[in-house]
Parts: sequence; structure tokens; C-alpha cells
Amino acid sequence: MGKPKLVVSTGAGISAESGIKTFRDAGGLWENYPVMQVASADGFRRDPALVHQFYNHRRHELLKVKPNAAHLALVELERDYDVYIITQNVDDLHERAGSANVLHLHGELMKIRSVSDPEYIESLDADHLDTTPQTRGRRGDLMRPHIVFFQEAVPNIEPAVELVAQADIFVVIGTSLNVYPAAGLLHYVRPGVPIYYIDPNPASTVGIPDVHVIKEPATRGMEQLAKILTSRH
Ligand code: OAD
Repeated sequence: MGKPKLVVSTGAGISAESGIKTFRDAGGLWENYPVMQVASADGFRRDPALVHQFYNHRRHELLKVKPNAAHLALVELERDYDVYIITQNVDDLHERAGSANVLHLHGELMKIRSVSDPEYIESLDADHLDTTPQTRGRRGDLMRPHIVFFQEAVPNIEPAVELVAQADIFVVIGTSLNVYPAAGLLHYVRPGVPIYYIDPNPASTVGIPDVHVIKEPATRGMEQLAKILTSRH
């Protein structure tokens, strides 16, 4: 028999202790930047320079931080479990921690893609973090941040749903469960599969069976969960 499949859905809260701001907590990003200006398809059409600037700033911030103990604990679990991470985060902290399987639902900060061909994606490196509406890729295409804006479809939701439907254990870490379709992933967990939700200020989980809420920050919560999962194994 293979290892049990542990599927983990992460949000901004897992990166908070690394020093990346969440969106909706007090002092969160959306308090200072109107979300529909900097992170929506309409906003991008109206003022693309502002949107590029916003993500340039995010990239510079990302380079200053490191994965924390919660990201690392998920890598450790790969010894005993087939771990699949589905993240709403656009940072690359799961990859830098060393997780093998990471699916990004909302895009990736360190990538840009062609405005006219969504399949054409390039990675940015630390020396070339800044883009503008005039930025062209190596092929000559005009490029945009590789971010799923509000009002756009979420192409990776289908593989994400498939993963969740195969989970033997499902874990949710640091998300306010405000943004769909990501927040709806919980509903694809098979009956009887245990769900653990780590968040110091968790959203309501009324009506979702088998949820164990661990009301802690991600690092401490992951320590507790690792003990529970190791003893189950
Ligand atoms: P939110 O900012 O909505 O929620 C952050 C969650 O993290 C809250 O539930 C907090 O209680 C929790 N939290 C705060 N500190 C934490 C810590 N140290 N450990 C664990 N949890 C902590 O962020 P998301 O739910 O990720 O999308 O937001 C979802 C999407 O909305 C984002 O991907 C982004 C945003 O608009 C796009 O930009 C497309």
C-alpha cells in the first residue's frame, strides 16, 4: 500500500509569520490598496501601471523573507504521507521550503505571462523583479503579472478539486475562506475524511462534518498537527 494522501490548502496566514502581510486581517494589504484597483481585471485595464507597481512591490518584499517552521513542517510530513499542497498564495515559500507538490490557485509572483497567450509564462529572477505595461518577454510578447485577478477564471481549480476528492486527510491553514472557488474546496472532501483547520481566528465551519479546529498560528498549529499525524501513522 502507498502512503496516505494528505492534501493541504493554504492561505495568506501560513506566510504571516514569515513577515508577509495577510489581506483581510487588521493592517492587511486590502486596507491600504483598494483591491479592485490593484487585483481585478477591470483595475488592470484601467491602470495597468499601478497594478505592475503593486506586484513589483510585493516581489521586493518576498525576496526579504524566508519560509517559516509551518512551511518546513509540511515538507517533513512527506516522509510518512503523500503531501499535495494547494495554495492561494502567490509567494514561493512552499517551494523554497522544499515541498514537492505545490499547486497555485491564484498565480505566482515570481512569474509573468503573455497578455495575448496565457500559456506563455516566464520566470523572473532576483535581478529583474520590476515590470511595466511595456515589459516584453523573450519571445517579444507584452507581459503581465502571472496573477489570477478578481473577475478572472481560476484554471487550476479543476486539478485542485480532483486532489481534494482523493484526500485521506485534508488540512486547511491560514485562510479566511472568503474567496471562491478556493473556499469551496472543503465541500469535495469525501465523507469520513478528517479535516484539520489551523487558524488563530478561524472562519465559521458550521455544517462541515469532521472538522478539528486548531486555533493557533500556523507554526504552533503545525507542531500540534505533526504530533497528531505521527501518532495516527
Ligand atoms: P485573508 O487575509 O483573507 O485571511 C488570512 C487568514 O490567515 C485569516 O483567517 C487569519 O486569521 C489567518 N492568520 C493570520 N495570522 C496567521 C498565522 N500566524 N497563522 C495562521 N493563520 C493566520 O487571506 P486568504 O484567505 O489567503 O487573492 O485570502 C484569499 C485570497 O484573497 C488571496 O489569495 C488573495 C486575496 O484577495 C488574490 O489576490 C487573487
